[in-house]
Amino acid sequence: MAIRTVYLETMGCQMNSLDSELVLGQLRAHGYEPVRDPSAADVVLINTCSVRDHAEQKALSRLGSFKKSKSRRPQMVVGVIGCMAERDPDGILRKTPHVDLVCGPGELNKIPAMIDEVLETRGKLVALSDNHSRRNSLLKRASEFDSVEALDLSRSAGLPQRLHHAYIRIQRGCDKFCTFCVVPFTRGPERCRPPDRIVGEARMLADRGAMEVTLLGQTVNSYAYPENGRTIRLLDLLERLSAVGGIQRVRFVTSYPGDFTDDILQAMRDLPKVCEYLHIPVQSGSDAVLERMNRRYTIARFVDLLDRAREIVPDISLATDFIVGFCGETDEEFQASRNLVERARFKNIFCFKYSPRPGTVADKRLADDVPDAVKRQRNVALLKLQEGVSLEDNQRWIGQTVEVLVEGYSKAALRSQEAEQSRGAEVGWRRSDQFVGRTRGDHIVVFPGAERHIGTLQQIRIRSVTALTLLGELESDSPGPSKEHTHA
Ligand code: SAH
Ligand code: F3S
Repeated sequence: MAIRTVYLETMGCQMNSLDSELVLGQLRAHGYEPVRDPSAADVVLINTCSVRDHAEQKALSRLGSFKKSKSRRPQMVVGVIGCMAERDPDGILRKTPHVDLVCGPGELNKIPAMIDEVLETRGKLVALSDNHSRRNSLLKRASEFDSVEALDLSRSAGLPQRLHHAYIRIQRGCDKFCTFCVVPFTRGPERCRPPDRIVGEARMLADRGAMEVTLLGQTVNSYAYPENGRTIRLLDLLERLSAVGGIQRVRFVTSYPGDFTDDILQAMRDLPKVCEYLHIPVQSGSDAVLERMNRRYTIARFVDLLDRAREIVPDISLATDFIVGFCGETDEEFQASRNLVERARFKNIFCFKYSPRPGTVADKRLADDVPDAVKRQRNVALLKLQEGVSLEDNQRWIGQTVEVLVEGYSKAALRSQEAEQSRGAEVGWRRSDQFVGRTRGDHIVVFPGAERHIGTLQQIRIRSVTALTLLGELESDSPGPSKEHTHA
C-alpha cells in the first residue's frame, strides 16, 4: 500500500485530544504518516468542538482555509470529526461543500474505512451515532458492539515509543443535561468502561513509559460498573490503578459537585499516587442561576464540599469552571460568582461567556438576554479577580521544594523571550534553558534544566511566582525514572 499522509488538527477538550490520538494511531496502523503541513496532506481531518458557538465558527473558518488546496488537488480527502460533526452534519456539508466525510465521536473507529470509501466512490460519507438516522453505508453493516470502544481497544497499535503522561477514558457521554450544555447530545448517554479494560490500558501505558495517567469522563465521580454482584466506583478504580507498577501519579477530571463523596477525598489523602487536585466545575455562585442551569446542588453544599476537601487533603488544589452571562443573570447574581471566587480560593478558574447551543433546554426555553458586552465585562472581571487570588496564594510556594513531572521545553518562556528580544532587551537565559512541568497539585513550574529531565520527576525549589506559574531551580538532579519504573 502506498503511504498516505494525514494532517489532524484538534480543537476542544481533553476527550478530543484522546480521540485524536486514537484516530491517528489507527491511521498509522493502516500505513498513514502524520504530517504537520495540511497543504500537502492526502487526508485533512479537523476534530471539532461544539460546546460554544465560537469553537464551531473557528472550525468552519479553518475548514474554509482548505478550500483552495482541495480545488487544486481534488483527490485530497477533507473530514470533519468530533462533536460538531455529530451536532450539525447538514450545516457542515452546506457551509463547506468541499468536505468529504463527517464522523461523530461515537463512530471514529470507522475513519480508515470511510477514507477508503470516499477515495473509491468520491461520494460524501456521514457517520453518526445510532440515535440519529442511519445514513452511512458502513453504519448499515450494523455492529452489535459499542463501536467506539473498538477505538480505545486499538490504542496500543499507534502509541509512540515513549510517553510520560496519558489520558485514559473511563466514561463516555453524560446524563446530567445541564440546560446550557450540548455534550449529552453530541456524546450521547453516560456509559462507563469496564474496570479491567481501564486497568489493562493503564498497564499497557505504563509499559510504554507513562508515569502519570489522567482518567477522563464528563462526571467521573458518577462512574459505576457492575462486577460480580457489586458496583465498582471511582474509588475502586483509584485503588486498582494505584497497584499498577510504573504509574506514579493518577488524576481524574472532571468531577460533578452534585454527587461528590468524601471517599474520593480520603483516597487522595491515603493513596500516595492519587494527586491532590480536583477540577470541579461550579458554573455560577448563585443558587438561582444554578437552578436555571439544572445543576442540582446549592452554593452552600459546594462551599461545604470545598471546606471538607481542604480539611481532609490539606494541600489540595481546587480548580473550577464558570459561565458568565447565562440567561437572566443579574448584576447581583454575577456578584455571587465574584463572592465565590474571593471566598473559595481556587488555584485557577476557566471562565466562559454563555453561548446558546441549539437543542438545549436553555436555548429553547430561556432568553439569551445578557448583552455580549456585559458578558465580556463579567468574564474579564472574574478572571481578573481570580488572577489576584492566584498571585496572592502562590506566594506561599516561594522557598518550598515541589515535585515536578517534567513535560518539555517551556513554550511560554520561549514566547516571552521572543517578546523581550523584539524589544531589544537582554534576556538572562538562553532558549534551550527553560523547561516546564507540573506539580501533583497541577501547578505549572518553569525552571532551567536540560533535555534529559523530560519525563522524569524532579525536585524544584521555587524562587518566584506569577499568577499562573511557579519559577524555580533544580534542587538536585534526579537520575531519571525511579527504580520501580525501570522494570518496564
Ligand atoms: N462535564 C464537562 C463539561 C464539558 S463542557 C467537564 O467539566 O469537562 C466544559 C465547560 O464548558 C463547562 O464546565 C462549562 O463551564 C462550559 N460550557 C459548557 N456549555 C457552555 C455554553 N453553552 N456556553 C458557555 N460555556 C459552556
Ligand atoms: Fe455538560 Fe452538565 Fe454533563 S456541563 S457534560 S451536561 S454535567
